[in-house]
Amino acid sequence: SSGRGLVVAVDGPGGSGKSTVARELARRLGLRYLDTGAMYRALTQLALEQRIDIEDAAAVGELSERAVISVGVDPDAPTIAVDGTRVDAEIRTRAVTNAVSAIAAVAAVRGRLVAQQRQIIEAAGGIVVEGRDIGSVVVPDAAIKVFLTASTEVRALRRSRQLGEKGVDDVARTLAELDRRDVLDSTRAADPLAVPDGAIVLDSTTMGVPEVVEEVLRHCGQSTAVG
Ligand code: DC
Repeated sequence: SSGRGLVVAVDGPGGSGKSTVARELARRLGLRYLDTGAMYRALTQLALEQRIDIEDAAAVGELSERAVISVGVDPDAPTIAVDGTRVDAEIRTRAVTNAVSAIAAVAAVRGRLVAQQRQIIEAAGGIVVEGRDIGSVVVPDAAIKVFLTASTEVRALRRSRQLGEKGVDDVARTLAELDRRDVLDSTRAADPLAVPDGAIVLDSTTMGVPEVVEEVLRHCGQSTAVG
């Protein structure tokens, strides 16, 4: 793995602060940044647009074979496109968020996307990769593995804020949806969310994102004065 540069794997559930942490780590370390969740979301967006039954694993698997997903890996401006169309905003809608677990549970989809992720990682010359199965499946030999978690309440609050919500009912609904997605992502047969061997486990409920970043940088042996 010496030719491909430093690989940092960041795994954890939704709303754990993974994306913020992973992007900041990439900036501070001068590495590329890959959001694998965005790839599952892009495929989900396409399935919804083409009115494919998301519970039909064969149809979803077929879709993943013909869809062309393109990812930009600049941590300052990550991009995602499917079949040549940018879908950066579309993949963050509630409709996509609630449908993505079904798509991500299809083994053929995972096989396809994991292969593409490995190509991107090999070509990057150093990269921070965030997802659910990065340290366990995609790059089990990553130099640094981080598993980031947070209480369900804190994660729901963050997600709700990201969605631009303000009411207590919205947070409650987001929490229920998050719980449902956690269960689906952690109990599916294909590569469930799990703490990978050798991972540093950090909880952003108590630490806060900046401290998490500093802690990981310490593990990377980098000066925290940089950046
Ligand atoms: O991190 P996120 O919320 O953008 O991820 C979207 C969905 O994709 C999430 O429900 C789990 C799935 N996912 C996955 O199964 N494997 C990954 N490596 C990344 C995301």
